Amino acid sequence: MGNVKAIETVDLVKRYGTLTALGGVSLEVPEGEFFGLLGPNGAGKTTLIRILTTLLNPTSGTARVMGLDVVKESSNVRGLIGVVPQAMTSDLDLTGYETMDIYARFYGMHRAERRARIDELLDMVGLRDRAGDLVATYSGGMRRRLEIARGLVHKPSLLILDEPTIGLDPQSRHVVWELLERFRKADRLTILLTTHYMEEAESLCDRVAIIDYGKIVALDTVPGLKKAIPQKDSIELGVAGVDMDRAVEWVKKLPGVTSASFAESTLTVFSEHGAEAIPALMEGLRGIGGRVTKVTLKELSLEDVFIHYTGRPIREEEAKKVSFLLGAGVPSKWGK
Ligand SMILES: Nc1ncnc2c1ncn2[C@@H]1O[C@H](COP(=O)(O)OP(=O)(O)O)[C@@H](O)[C@H]1O
Ligand SMILES: [Mg+2]
Repeated sequence: MGNVKAIETVDLVKRYGTLTALGGVSLEVPEGEFFGLLGPNGAGKTTLIRILTTLLNPTSGTARVMGLDVVKESSNVRGLIGVVPQAMTSDLDLTGYETMDIYARFYGMHRAERRARIDELLDMVGLRDRAGDLVATYSGGMRRRLEIARGLVHKPSLLILDEPTIGLDPQSRHVVWELLERFRKADRLTILLTTHYMEEAESLCDRVAIIDYGKIVALDTVPGLKKAIPQKDSIELGVAGVDMDRAVEWVKKLPGVTSASFAESTLTVFSEHGAEAIPALMEGLRGIGGRVTKVTLKELSLEDVFIHYTGRPIREEEAKKVSFLLGAGVPSKWGK
């Protein structure tokens, strides 16, 4: 894949007055990678994207896309990237086809080339038979799919998506995920995506940078991020009919198990690979005469990684919203 880096930022800083939105971000994304930027609201994700897409100049530091400086060579950069902004930006008064055609013309594509590319893309996003309908008649998921197709019309090398599935229902979200996987293979794209959905980062990205208050706090593959923190998967087993001291000693010898303890007829086991440990645990406990009444597995998540580095959950602001609503005295009929 050579030495070309699709994205390279060095000590990127962006201040809005006294607020530091980006506090020195250094990042390298090799060509062909699916890279995720995961962080809560206000972390600086959109600010970073706006700099990379040449819409905003950094206060200091540098950013390059495919080797080109985003400030000094901005028009060349714009030709190399496709962008799907956070807010839905497709015009409701245009048809799907017109939406695509305007962008294709903007990039100077010729008529025949435009038509072929637009048909191909609309086909891939499942909108070919709705191409002549106004965007106003599309669902949120359809609009998002159209905007992804629009971002790809000029065959960019790098596709940048800012919270592409925010506000979509779970099914539409999965459709978008599948599309991104397919486009990545078909066009040998590099993809940068921001999200505050952990499942999204986990299921799509080769590597994930966790960003908080304008700083990258951790960066690795998802398994690498999980491995680097001291926490493990935990398994709780309700067990009856065995000598628990003996059971605990035995469990501790199983491969991958880092600790085990017993209290109130529950055996708690921490393991590097919780799901893989369960069959051996069940079998072994039965083997020494035990009866397993219940099994609960809690697998380590990116949320645990985030908490480890920041001391709070990524979903904090959502939790706050809920308690605010309750605290504000919601009319009682809403609660029923
Ligand atoms: N134009 C702006 N003027 C002042 N502050 C801004 C502006 N845009 C963003 N911010 C602030 O910068 C921080 C990062 O915002 P943003 O990049 O939008 O975060 P994210 O996309 O991760 O939610 C936030 O505190 C936000 O309020
Ligand atoms: Mg944002």
